[in-house]
Amino acid sequence: MINIVDQKTGPMISRYIYGHFAEHLGRCIYDGLYVGKDSSIPNKNGMRTDVVEALKAIQIPVLRWPGGCFADEYHWKDGIGAIEERKKIVNTHWGGVTETNHFGTHEFFELIDQLGCDAYINGNVGSGTVQEMQEWVEYMTMAGESPMSSLRRENGREEPWAVKFFGVGNESWGCGGNMRPHYYADLYRQYQTYVRQYDKEKIYKIACGPNVDDYEWMEEVMKSAAPFMDGISLHHYALTGAWEEKGPALNFVEEHWWSLIESAEKMNELITKHTTIMDKYDPEKRIGLIIDEWGSWLAVEPGTNPGFLYQQNTIRDAMVAAITLNIFHAHAERVQMANIAQTVNVLQAMLLTEGAAMVKTPTYHVFDLYQVHQDAQYVDSYGQGSKNLSYTISKKGNQLNLSICNYALEGNQRIDFQLESLVKGVQSSRYICGEKMDSHNDFEHPEDIVIIPFSDYKVDGRVLTVMIPAKAVLTIQLELAD
Ligand code: AHR
Repeated sequence: MINIVDQKTGPMISRYIYGHFAEHLGRCIYDGLYVGKDSSIPNKNGMRTDVVEALKAIQIPVLRWPGGCFADEYHWKDGIGAIEERKKIVNTHWGGVTETNHFGTHEFFELIDQLGCDAYINGNVGSGTVQEMQEWVEYMTMAGESPMSSLRRENGREEPWAVKFFGVGNESWGCGGNMRPHYYADLYRQYQTYVRQYDKEKIYKIACGPNVDDYEWMEEVMKSAAPFMDGISLHHYALTGAWEEKGPALNFVEEHWWSLIESAEKMNELITKHTTIMDKYDPEKRIGLIIDEWGSWLAVEPGTNPGFLYQQNTIRDAMVAAITLNIFHAHAERVQMANIAQTVNVLQAMLLTEGAAMVKTPTYHVFDLYQVHQDAQYVDSYGQGSKNLSYTISKKGNQLNLSICNYALEGNQRIDFQLESLVKGVQSSRYICGEKMDSHNDFEHPEDIVIIPFSDYKVDGRVLTVMIPAKAVLTIQLELAD
């Protein structure tokens, strides 16, 4: 029996924990989000209508762009002005393909506008200048007269856009410049100075944080630059084993079911330890830990460009998503935003596209089931020692939201919750479940995994009993008595 004191006041689970990431990588932007105005694929101003609609349905709160590693070789002026005249560059990180720059700043904000979400721009520290970063911010956010706002107007946009989040460099310890923490901390202090406030709305500035368990990086950057930042990032991908030996996304062995899940669960330890360091320099917890890259990183699908990071997505990835979101909720006080990598056709994607066709992945369905937790009050979460179970309980007014993931490979599991309030009614109860370890959706079978009604539960006064099948994720919404 799990006792839930559902009246306690937990922190709010920021909706930004449900953020996404779209990089100029493989078929994420081109084909995935953007097809251009002249495409035969239904689009609005170049943005795929099916993809935009699907992302809106899960209430995407924020989108990070243009990278990733690509951000530190992106020169924003290449991506403005008449589309056909834009400079073509080589995307050196991702497959060495030609980047047309057809999707640039104006197109990004068109997408943000259609999605109705906030913008998270990642600036270039690795190969860009302070002036370039300063001018980009001015171009995007300056309302009055200035050289960059005039340029924006010449390019057809009168009003400034709102930049809610701004990242100063990406993976500066690696693809973003191979820097050491003291050096980056000083560069961060310098570059962020020129991320000026042209608009009324404050720009939330994010410093490049550590790779996985690089605690020295966190210590040094926090020690030297904490007063100058609003957030600091952390990147951790779930792997099946060694970085160089990524297991396949489909037809995998049972051992890889468990190793991927274990790697996802490591997120809890990482957040706990990085938070302890952050607490030393920021005891008030003003600074957010921003996990702006997370998710499964598996072998690319056979026959696809290795630099495009295209992988299938199974019920195992749904487990990774549910477990990780439950961990984020448990750290809601510190985790102010997270961005799963990446939105379409790359790594642990929400959506896969092929020509005009689109499929929703099992991970998409977890984000759908879990949207009830966006901006809800945290009540309880994580495993509490229950074997192969992970859950979150949150509350909005009189509504209690309960999500559970049973990542056992076989066997239903019973879980009893003792609530503080009487249950007045069940508002909804839905789940996804995999028959096999690698159950998934593809273009021939786009609906092998879909959300369906869940009925194997019982409410008895203050006790909720749920029998959850193996390889399943569910959400039940209860209405509580006053
Ligand atoms: O998401 C793919 C890549 O992973 C990103 O470009 C980079 O930041 C990270 O190493």
